[in-house]
Amino acid sequence: MSNKSSNQMWGGRFASGPDAIMEAINASIGFDQRLAEQDIRGSRAHAAMLAAQGIITDNEAAAIREGLLTVLSEIQSGNFEFSAALEDIHMNVEARLKDIVGEPAGRLHTARSRNDQVATDFRLWVRDQFDAFETGLLALINALLVQAEQGADWVMPGFTHLQTAQPVTWGHHMMAYVEMLGRDLSRVRDARARMNECPLGSAALAGTSFPIDRHMTAADLGFACPTANSLDAVSDRDFALEFLSVASICAMHLSRFAEELVIWSSAQFRFVTLSDRFSTGSSIMPQKKNPDAAELIRAKVGRIFGANVALMMVMKGLPLAYSKDMQEDKEQVFDAADNLMLALAAMEGMVKDMSANVDNLAAAAGSGFSTATDLADWLVRAINMPFRDAHHVTGSLVALAEKQGCDLADLSLADMQTVHTSITDDVYSVLTVDNSVKSRVSYGGTAPAQVLVQIQRWKDVLK
Ligand code: ARG
Repeated sequence: MSNKSSNQMWGGRFASGPDAIMEAINASIGFDQRLAEQDIRGSRAHAAMLAAQGIITDNEAAAIREGLLTVLSEIQSGNFEFSAALEDIHMNVEARLKDIVGEPAGRLHTARSRNDQVATDFRLWVRDQFDAFETGLLALINALLVQAEQGADWVMPGFTHLQTAQPVTWGHHMMAYVEMLGRDLSRVRDARARMNECPLGSAALAGTSFPIDRHMTAADLGFACPTANSLDAVSDRDFALEFLSVASICAMHLSRFAEELVIWSSAQFRFVTLSDRFSTGSSIMPQKKNPDAAELIRAKVGRIFGANVALMMVMKGLPLAYSKDMQEDKEQVFDAADNLMLALAAMEGMVKDMSANVDNLAAAAGSGFSTATDLADWLVRAINMPFRDAHHVTGSLVALAEKQGCDLADLSLADMQTVHTSITDDVYSVLTVDNSVKSRVSYGGTAPAQVLVQIQRWKDVLK
């Protein structure tokens, strides 16, 4: 593909073409062809504006705009020959436009540079990804709300340190992820609003002397306004970094739920059954049903956060304005976005399909002396014991039950009274798992009544 004559776009001062290695390191067409649609959209808006401002004629603009649609359809149908000698998507499109419409093509690059062009294309692309991100989050949140509502009062063990802590409800656990993903959603919306400014017309770095209308192109491309500093506009990629950091946080959230699904679907836990549609088998062990989707989602945060770190390092220390380093911004973002959308969709599918094993959840909820805190709270309430003393007394009762090999509720009243004489029959009412969760009615607590309040709040928010 190497072209030994000098470059047709910028080769005026060059006597020879680039070395093959130079071409290989310089070309971005191998990946930035993914920006073709955005590039053509931006160029069509630019051409319309140039004509509206009398910088090119209406006929020239019409030829350019029509020709660009032809280029787009060639690219979309796979009938386009990309050339590494033409470096990137911008020059590949413009060169083909020249083949199709001739001289007017050469006027398209008036009052712009590839620097503002690529900044615009990439913003348009990342903005679409923010929108897809939002759609994926909403779908997953809705799937979690369905799970939470049907199991608002199903009891299960709540863990700290992955050790049984206190009983909680299935609905409460699902809603914990709704809260996390809800914050992700709010971060997506914030970041999208912040990045929705149009760099086009910043030109190479300093703006232009042509009488352009940047508000017109910004509006045409759906941006809220033009960017206010041309140096900044061509040289920052913080919008992509915000996408990657919001994506990393979300992927981290997904990885935690994925990990829980891996644990919960194991033979030792059997808290949930994942559907066949979202499980895989083993080629050697016929009994296996593996939670591969959950494991892969758990892993995605690695590459997504890796992309975040990589782009941060590319940008670090770059002087203003554009530097070619910034061509390295794209592949990581493409990869991270693809994998994030896949992870969100796979998680949504798994959540929709999974069924909780309610009996196993309930049995596990009552094991491990999970109502010990309820007992201590009862000692405080019923016999006005300071909590620290109640904690100690309860510890002795747990030790006694452990010695007898039974649960707290199975200790006789006489045995309990050997630990503390004031304990009465009433204590048994707080030792059941159902009463335990029902009692936790504090705002945001695990009681089914509270969970239903939060489900309703989210339904209203998402309406
Ligand atoms: N392919 C380049 C990129 O992705 C386009 C901008 C090139 N600008 C330049 N001054 N060489 O960053």
